[in-house]
Amino acid sequence: MLVFTLLLEGIWILAADGGQHWTYEGPHGQDHWAASYPECGRQAQSPINIQTGSVTFDPDLAMLQPRGYEQPGAGALDLHNNGHTVQLSLPPALYLEGLPRKYVAAQLHLHWGQKGFPGGSEHQINGEAVAAELHVVHYDADSYDSLSEAAQRPQGLAVLGVLIEVGQADNPAYEHILSRLHEIRHKGQKTSVPTFNVRELLPTQLWQFFRYNGSLTTPPCYQSVLWTVFNRRAQISMEQLEKLQETLSSTEEEPSEPLVQNYRAPQPLNQRTVLASFIQEASFYTTGEMLSLGVGVLVGCLCLLLAVYLIARKMRRKRLGNRKSVVFTSGRVTEP
Ligand SMILES: *[C@@H]1O[C@H](CO)[C@@H](O)[C@H](O)[C@H]1NC(C)=O
Repeated sequence: MLVFTLLLEGIWILAADGGQHWTYEGPHGQDHWAASYPECGRQAQSPINIQTGSVTFDPDLAMLQPRGYEQPGAGALDLHNNGHTVQLSLPPALYLEGLPRKYVAAQLHLHWGQKGFPGGSEHQINGEAVAAELHVVHYDADSYDSLSEAAQRPQGLAVLGVLIEVGQADNPAYEHILSRLHEIRHKGQKTSVPTFNVRELLPTQLWQFFRYNGSLTTPPCYQSVLWTVFNRRAQISMEQLEKLQETLSSTEEEPSEPLVQNYRAPQPLNQRTVLASFIQEASFYTTGEMLSLGVGVLVGCLCLLLAVYLIARKMRRKRLGNRKSVVFTSGRVTEP
């Protein structure tokens, strides 16, 4: 019986992990993921649209410290086109401090759009998507033996999300990846990249971030991810973005299918809370509160103005009255 149950579970995991073909658009697209991967239809999915007016400032959130990112060791790192994204393997010498447990790095990958179209990031901030997004995937190595085991457990994974926008200059850190894409044009191809400072892929300021419980953004969509999305963005040049948008193919051979628009739409927040490590002006007041505050101040000012006017008028009347009486008295004085 136990063997049978284990067997069934094994088959289920296999089916959930590798089996069913999925894409972003079309008959196997994201609207149909839940049919083959039931977790994709659950209530705590990623990505989300982060409404900064509705986040909860948490002064107890610890600063996130990426360790070992500057020097990921001497060797080379595998860079792989898996048909869904470009993925760089990372050694466990890279890990995160500042979370409830120690999470060690496993891989990083990117999501992007299509040349000439806006958007490409998975997370949005106040409804705004940017050109691309970096995910650095870590797992709780204290509690679990492998990434695939941790990926199915609550908070088994910790993923860093970096929004990437287009700036003026080439970003040399991203160039370590982007300059090699032509070597892994087709799905299944691999190359190796000499190690580089992975910290430089992240924004310079790490202390402003959002934290929430979510999921993998691709099937099987396990709800096992403790997300950290940085408020500050990384920047790459337009040339670099176009390299990302135009080089890779999602198929193994010709005819090649361009690997583009590999981002999932924002998922409902439902009952979840998004924590913020910092205070934004917008998170003090909602638009409605701002409006009523504005009207209140305006009415207050008008009342004050009216009061000052009335007092001033009264005083002027009194002064005029005094002058009249002075004239009258002096008139009386000069008369006799
Ligand atoms: C995530 O879920 C865990 C377990 O339910 C909870 O203790 C924790 O506060 C949640 N974290 C956030 C950021 O909501």
